[in-house]
Amino acid sequence: MVKSSFLVICFASLTAGLLIGEFSDWRPPFRLPHSPLHSEKLLQKAKPLISSTVTIIPPEQYERWIEHQTHISFEGIIKNIGGYGPGLEDVMRGAVIASPSKSHPDYYYQWTRDSGITINTLIMNYADNNATNATLRDIIYDYINSSRIIQRQSNPSGTFENLEGLGEPKFKVDGRPFTAPWGRPQRDGPALRAIAMLNFVNTELKYNESGVTYESFRDIFDNVIRPDLDYVGLKWQYDGFDLWEELKGKHFFTSMCHRRALISGSDLAQKLGYADAAIFYQTQASYLTQFISDYFYDHKKGHLVETFGNHKRSGLDSALFLGSIHALDLLLWSGKADVTDIYPPYSDEVLASLVQHITDMRYRYPINLRRLKTFESLGVNISLVGIGVGRYPEDVYNGVAESEGNPWFLCTATVSHTLYLLADYLYTRTSDFTLKLTEHTLPLLGMFLDKVEGFDWSDPSFELKRSSPDFDTVVLRILAYGDSFLDVIREHVDSKGSMSEQFSRYDGYMRGAEDLTWSYGAFWSAVRQRKLVYGRIK
Ligand SMILES: *[C@@H]1O[C@H](CO)[C@@H](O)[C@H](O)[C@H]1NC(C)=O
Ligand SMILES: *[C@@H]1O[C@H](CO)[C@@H](O)[C@H](O)[C@H]1NC(C)=O
Ligand SMILES: *[C@@H]1O[C@H](CO)[C@@H](O)[C@H](O)[C@H]1NC(C)=O
Ligand SMILES: *[C@@H]1O[C@H](CO)[C@@H](O)[C@H](O)[C@H]1NC(C)=O
Ligand SMILES: *[C@@H]1O[C@H](CO)[C@@H](O)[C@H](O)[C@H]1NC(C)=O
Repeated sequence: MVKSSFLVICFASLTAGLLIGEFSDWRPPFRLPHSPLHSEKLLQKAKPLISSTVTIIPPEQYERWIEHQTHISFEGIIKNIGGYGPGLEDVMRGAVIASPSKSHPDYYYQWTRDSGITINTLIMNYADNNATNATLRDIIYDYINSSRIIQRQSNPSGTFENLEGLGEPKFKVDGRPFTAPWGRPQRDGPALRAIAMLNFVNTELKYNESGVTYESFRDIFDNVIRPDLDYVGLKWQYDGFDLWEELKGKHFFTSMCHRRALISGSDLAQKLGYADAAIFYQTQASYLTQFISDYFYDHKKGHLVETFGNHKRSGLDSALFLGSIHALDLLLWSGKADVTDIYPPYSDEVLASLVQHITDMRYRYPINLRRLKTFESLGVNISLVGIGVGRYPEDVYNGVAESEGNPWFLCTATVSHTLYLLADYLYTRTSDFTLKLTEHTLPLLGMFLDKVEGFDWSDPSFELKRSSPDFDTVVLRILAYGDSFLDVIREHVDSKGSMSEQFSRYDGYMRGAEDLTWSYGAFWSAVRQRKLVYGRIK
């Protein structure tokens, strides 16, 4: 097990911070990190309203860490891909292992979900670099090629011919089926694989117009993407296991991924001249829209629930935010809301769920309490201090066996990602936009509106116009809150920047599978969004 340098970093940083001198005469330090990305003018305006420290280390040091960790995380992903990572001689080229850990726990497999999400992350980087990185392009093609082979392996879920085989959750690293008992099928996998490949095709078309045409991708569409889309279109209404592989039923995350795959897939099918398929995918997507809005919001609880009809759990789950994010067209995201999106990260329902999830996690884990106390002892208002976030309140998986759940790197990064998307959405509103509150979003948005003129916690009818000078301050506070969650990750990675699956709720040391590919991908994706929004504010 990889050791975390939590204590060392945490206390070393505190000392460093105190030595800087700005705290000698105590006043709440202004701690929004200010890299060249930040607009000094905006920050000056915001200063009187932002009064709390959110990162434990000084801003410049925090920015340097973000840069460094982002690089490490991306390389951490590549290291877990067959044909590219060291020591993966037995791994099929283009297959993504979940983790190099071969025992306690054994994650040395390719999961369809994890690898779809991972390759999608690479595609975002590839697109951000104008589709010019040949290494990334090779990896993506290798992934597509390995997917073509894996899709056709008969397995305990079914076959390629009856499509059910596509719902098999995981394969051996050489591409052969895994036949031991498991929670199967898991119906999110084909959707996530399709989303990744569709994003790749659209990226190639967008950035390499002279070199490629739709026709160039007909083979990939017909033989690799289309089976996954047909699977989703035909099977979305059947039960399957959730992304955590524990519950059989209908799941928010899964349905949200289904819907995105069908909408993007319908578009490409149309462009390739498959009118019937395009209509079929579009129709199923609209049924899904109805299904998702009918079943996953619990009006009594005032939040979304991850698994429909499960009464043993609250329904609060990091999967809600993952589902909301993965259902966005992130490739085309420019902060502009797609009016057809359902439950996007800036929606009232997602924000209401987010604040309840964070509130639960805040005092669930002793390390969070300790972190809050540390800030408190510095005289900081702790309401906007980030914490370690786990999967869901009732979690008992400790990374190897069942006892007590822990915070996860990918769940903590996903909270930041959600906040960055919210900030981006708000920042890019036109001047006629007005931020409105509801009884359920007030506990979250109120934290950012605190001390804004006219705002009163007891009055959810408060509205803030985009044109108000306080609006940008609210955006910066949201970003600072997002940064504070990444700061938690900083405290728990080891000295090399490695991330496992979890960190202990008691001592903060890493737990579970080491070098978890998804931990790196979730961190990288959150930072990508952070850069986008700070870049816009500049
Ligand atoms: C991508 O292309 C645009 C427009 O040509 C250019 O401004 C930008 O710098 C390029 N970005 C990268 C990362 O190559
Ligand atoms: C392409 O991406 C790979 C993997 O991240 C990286 O090592 C390499 O430096 C990149 N190449 C260029 C030309 O940027
Ligand atoms: C992927 O497979 C196709 C044929 O199925 C082949 O032409 C191509 O070279 C392969 N790509 C890579 C990167 O191996
Ligand atoms: C365009 O795509 C082709 C084939 O995928 C590739 O060989 C070529 O290098 C690409 N051009 C650029 C400028 O990326
Ligand atoms: C801390 O901040 C919250 C809002 O973010 C506010 O409601 C509360 O009054 C503040 N506490 C103190 C002691 O200033």
